[in-house]
Amino acid sequence: MVLRHSTNEQRLQGSASPQGTHHYAARFHGTAAPGHFREIPSGLVMSSIGIGTYLGEADNATDRSYTESVIAAVEGGINVIDTAINYRFQRSERAIGEALKHLASKGYSREEIVLCTKAGFLTPDGEMPDDVDEYFAEEYLERGILLPEEIAAGCHCMAPRFLEDQLGRSLANLGVTTVDVFYLHNPETQIDQVPADEFRRRIRAAFEFLESAVATGKIGAYGMATWNAFRENVQSPGHMSLAEIEAMAREAGGPDHHFRFLQLPLNLAMPEALLRPNQTVQAKTFATLQAARALGITVVVSASLLQGQLTRNLPKHITQAIRGESDAERALQFARSAPAVVTALAGMSRAEHVRSNLRMVSMEPAGREEFLKVFEQQAQHL
Ligand SMILES: NC(=O)c1ccc[n+]([C@@H]2O[C@H](COP(=O)([O-])OP(=O)(O)OC[C@H]3O[C@@H](n4cnc5c(N)ncnc54)[C@H](OP(=O)(O)O)[C@@H]3O)[C@@H](O)[C@H]2O)c1
Repeated sequence: MVLRHSTNEQRLQGSASPQGTHHYAARFHGTAAPGHFREIPSGLVMSSIGIGTYLGEADNATDRSYTESVIAAVEGGINVIDTAINYRFQRSERAIGEALKHLASKGYSREEIVLCTKAGFLTPDGEMPDDVDEYFAEEYLERGILLPEEIAAGCHCMAPRFLEDQLGRSLANLGVTTVDVFYLHNPETQIDQVPADEFRRRIRAAFEFLESAVATGKIGAYGMATWNAFRENVQSPGHMSLAEIEAMAREAGGPDHHFRFLQLPLNLAMPEALLRPNQTVQAKTFATLQAARALGITVVVSASLLQGQLTRNLPKHITQAIRGESDAERALQFARSAPAVVTALAGMSRAEHVRSNLRMVSMEPAGREEFLKVFEQQAQHL
C-alpha cells in the first residue's frame, strides 16, 4: 500500500486564477496559434488540449512516466490536467502531485494550471488489496465514512461525507490546497440503482456539499464528468437533462452557483454531444454542447482519441476533411474544434505522445467551414 501524507504547509497553495492563466498563455506568445488558449466566463484561460491520466498500469514505471508527461505537457503549452481519485488506484493523482512540485521549482505557479479531479468511484489505495471487501470495510464502513445503503452498483457513492473524504485524499495526493474543478464522476452509475426521487436527492445533497467546498476554498468550481448520461436519447432510462441538473445547482447555490463544468466523450466515433438533440433549455431543443453553452457551462471532452483507436487507420474521407500530420492530430483537431468545446482531453502516459501532440499548440483549430467538412464528407459516404 502506498501512503503519502502531506501537511497543508507542504502543499502548493492557491488555485488557477485569471491572471495566472493569462500569464501562462503569454509564455507561448508567438508560438501558440490563435484559438489554442480559450478564456472561459470565470476569466480562466484553458488550453484547447488537456492531459488525461486514466489509462495505464498501476505500477511505479507508469507513475514516473505520467509525471514526465505532465511536466512536458505544462512546459509545452497544455495547462489543463485531468484526473480522478480512482485512476490507477490514486497513483495518477500522486504522479501529478510530483509533476506539480517539479514544475513549481521551475517557476510555473499553481495559478497557471487548471487542475481537475473527480470522485464517486470507490478505489483502493495504490494497489488492489488481497481482500478488497475487508479493505473497504475497514477504511470506510467501520469509520462511518460510507453507509452500506449509500453504495450503488457495488462501486459508487456521492454522499456528502464520502465526497468530503475523497476531496481530502485528492488534495493530499495532488499536494495542493485547492483543486480548480471537482467533478462528480459518472453519476449516471446510480440512475438505475435507486428511485428517481432518491437519485435527485443524492445529486442535490452532493451539490450542497460542493458549494460548501467552494466556500472553504478547497475547490474552485464543480461539475459532472459523465460517459452516457448526456449522450443518450431522451427516452433512454440513463438520460439526464442538463437544464434540470443546473436547476438543482441553483437550488443548492443560488444564481451564482458553481456548477460550471461538464465533461463527456466527444470524438470522431462518438459525436452525440454535438449531433443528438437530446436536451431542452427554456423550451428549445439542443444537442448537449449547445445546451451547455446556453446554460453557461464550460465543456471539456474526454476520450478524444477513443482510447487510442483513432490514432491509426482513419478513413480517407476523414483524412481529407481534417488537417493534421497524423491520425492522432486529426482526431484531436476534430474534438477541440467542435463548437462550445473548450478543452479536448488526450490521455498521455508517455511523454513521446505529449511531445507529438504538442504540435497542436501551434496549429489553429479548425474554423466552422473546415469543421463541417467532416460531416459533408461523411454524408457522401452514407
Ligand atoms: N467518465 C469520465 O469521467 C471519463 C471517461 C474517459 C476518459 N476521461 C478523461 O479523459 C481522458 C482522455 O481519455 P482516455 O485517456 O480514456 O482516452 P484517449 O485520450 O481517447 O486515448 C488515450 C490513449 O491514446 C494514446 N495516445 C495519445 N496520444 C497519442 C499519439 N499521438 N499517438 C498514438 N497514441 C496516442 C495514449 O497512449 P499513452 O498513454 O501510451 O501515451 C492512450 O493509450 C482520460 O485520461 C481521463 O482523464 C474521463
